Amino acid sequence: MSSFTISQALDMHLHLRDGDMLNLVGPLTSKTFSGALVMPNLVPPITTKDALLSYKQRIKEACKDDDFEPYVTLFFQNNYSYEFLEDIKDEIIAIKLYPAGITTNSETGVASMDVEVLRPTLESMSKLGIPLCIHGETNGFVMDREKEFMPIYESIASAFPDLKIIMEHITTKDAIELLDKYDNLYATVTLHHLLITLDDVAGGMLQPHLFCKPIAKRPEDRSALLNAALKAHPKLMFGSDSAPHPKHKKECCGCAAGVFTAPIALQVLTQLFNDNNCLENLNKFISLNAQKIYGIKPPKKDIKLIQKEFIVPSSYEYKNEQVVPMYAGETLTWSIEE
Ligand code: NCD
Ligand code: ZN
Repeated sequence: MSSFTISQALDMHLHLRDGDMLNLVGPLTSKTFSGALVMPNLVPPITTKDALLSYKQRIKEACKDDDFEPYVTLFFQNNYSYEFLEDIKDEIIAIKLYPAGITTNSETGVASMDVEVLRPTLESMSKLGIPLCIHGETNGFVMDREKEFMPIYESIASAFPDLKIIMEHITTKDAIELLDKYDNLYATVTLHHLLITLDDVAGGMLQPHLFCKPIAKRPEDRSALLNAALKAHPKLMFGSDSAPHPKHKKECCGCAAGVFTAPIALQVLTQLFNDNNCLENLNKFISLNAQKIYGIKPPKKDIKLIQKEFIVPSSYEYKNEQVVPMYAGETLTWSIEE
């Protein structure tokens, strides 16, 4: 096939940051995507209605040339009252829970994943129908962090059967297997975890632009993720976890975690699904599954992908900073029709 149309593309896990970085990366998503679930891990994180509404306004301002819906989220705290959640419910798509210190800007996340500690807030969310997105990693050995989190997903899923739980950016075969065990469990998967393993990050020369949390795993994990994505497993959604950091924070000692994929996501997904003869499933994976799971109706937007070379820019610039995308300088075989 030499062209393919993606309708109402949704990125259900996206870091848009703030300030000058937001003004740069916002349009790189909003130009082609209809909407995105925007992560709340700013500094400080989004924990109040005022902060949430003003952030949404800044996103709209940054993306004002495009018909684009920012589905904003709140940063989970144990002390949210029922009244607070009831009042904010219509402004958010979900609440994102981070174990404290597990990833970028998560220092004020939860100290305990014990269901009893989390119960008051989860009970309110369950009653109010607010979905829970989770960064599911323990602080164990880096390759086992997600696997070790599976019993925690199980304990929350069984304690709150009416709560929609989204396992964010899954990276393992274990997570794929767990998806079908609980009706109320869903997941997002990134582009990079469909493509790379730990070998690509650290098997040769260290590749800081492929370093992220959770770290890419084994070939068998990647295969399980890819199989589920290619068949558009109905409980799996595309969430890029595109997480831009300035170049000097990536190419340094103590490199920040995050892969910046927003500008290449549609082209590479089309290439990947086409190479595997699964293009007919791409619109489910990138939009329809999420529309059903979250019950959303994103703005109408058709993007035509064509089989034509696209050279990925070596970086995107703002003020005196640069941000380096995945596959910088490489040639892709699909591009977006202008
Ligand atoms: C994300 C970031 O930079 O905000 N980093 C990452 O490696 N994925 C946070 C996250 O989603 O874990
Ligand atoms: Zn993320």
